[in-house]
Amino acid sequence: MTAIYCNPVRSVFGAGALSSLPDLTKGRAVALVTFPEAGALGLVSRIEALLGAQLRCVIDKVQPNPDVAELAATYDAFWADHPDVEVIVAVGGGSSIDTAKALTVAAPGERFADLLAGLSGAQAFVPTRSKELIAVPTTAGTGSEVTPWATIWDKARQKKYSLHVNETWPSHAVIDPELMLSLPASVTLQSGLDALSHALEAIWNVNANPVSDTFAVAAVRETMEVLPLLMRKLDDIDLRSRMALAALKAGMAFSNTKTALAHSISYEMTLRFGLPHGIACSFPLPMVLARAVGRDPARDRVLAQALGEPLVGASQRLAEFIEGLGVATSFADYGVDEHEAERMVADAQGGVRGRNFIGA
Ligand SMILES: NC(=O)c1ccc[n+]([C@@H]2O[C@H](COP(=O)([O-])OP(=O)(O)OC[C@H]3O[C@@H](n4cnc5c(N)ncnc54)[C@H](O)[C@@H]3O)[C@@H](O)[C@H]2O)c1
Ligand SMILES: [Fe+2]
Repeated sequence: MTAIYCNPVRSVFGAGALSSLPDLTKGRAVALVTFPEAGALGLVSRIEALLGAQLRCVIDKVQPNPDVAELAATYDAFWADHPDVEVIVAVGGGSSIDTAKALTVAAPGERFADLLAGLSGAQAFVPTRSKELIAVPTTAGTGSEVTPWATIWDKARQKKYSLHVNETWPSHAVIDPELMLSLPASVTLQSGLDALSHALEAIWNVNANPVSDTFAVAAVRETMEVLPLLMRKLDDIDLRSRMALAALKAGMAFSNTKTALAHSISYEMTLRFGLPHGIACSFPLPMVLARAVGRDPARDRVLAQALGEPLVGASQRLAEFIEGLGVATSFADYGVDEHEAERMVADAQGGVRGRNFIGA
């Protein structure tokens, strides 16, 4: 059987990588999309100093989980006021990078309402124009810097959309672990567990291939080794760097497979209970692992490489690992009773991402 692996993003990795922005943007007009704390952290002024007059606009109000309610005004103003901008530089976690992905592509009439119509399936979304996107993650988890997907939330309608067109692949990912030193413990943990979820979901996945497996196995092993150490030493640049690399590998893995059942379950948990993404997509991992083991000998071999032999008991060991980091792993812990949990898992299995699960 032949397999195709493709990831078109050029990755620049290492402490100090942020300084490559002038080279990558090559004198072109830039918009910066970032999170509210970036100003106080000195990040905005560093980027102003690096880009000088190239920097035409700063959007720094990105809240966690970009929602259509806030995105609409930002999108319409951006496309109306900054026709000169050629490159969007997203500096932040998945929320900033996904917001930037939405801003990158023009809908007909350059109105967010048209983009949303495409996302909600009323009509296929085809961008009329696009900007180049450079993604600079400041969390180690989402992998959004090396994937084409943007998760857009609609809390009012209890929906989650996935924006995905060719133009939403970043041209470059600039992964600078120094930018992660300011991450609080809570976000370090959530994003680290998101990376673990991406890596495991890339393995129990109908789209897995030998190349995605290579990235996924390394990402599972390294995340499980590094994350507990990092939680005890948040200011250690070597541990930040190792976690950033593990998250990048997890991103490379699921950039080709997409996610699966744990992520499919997570969307309802985030929309209904406000669970942060990294918790919502990692607490069900032991349960999904128990359903994955024994489905397919080839997948079992890769799971054993990632999690160690024997696979019997691996679900329990994974639960102990996640709980050891302070995250409860059963639905009941989140106020969801057994009957409701069964309904949720069944719905999630029928969802777009759930159908990627080998046990679906
Ligand atoms: N596109 C994808 O492939 C993909 C994959 C997984 C998750 N996601 C999405 O990403 C979002 C979650 O992203 P996330 O976990 O990276 O968190 P986030 O971007 O939501 O940020 C979480 C919090 O951390 C703050 N923060 C970020 N970087 C910081 C830093 N260096 N120092 C101090 N504070 C910082 C933010 O302001 C925010 O308050 C969710 O909306 C999720 O759906 C997307
Ligand atoms: Fe995720």
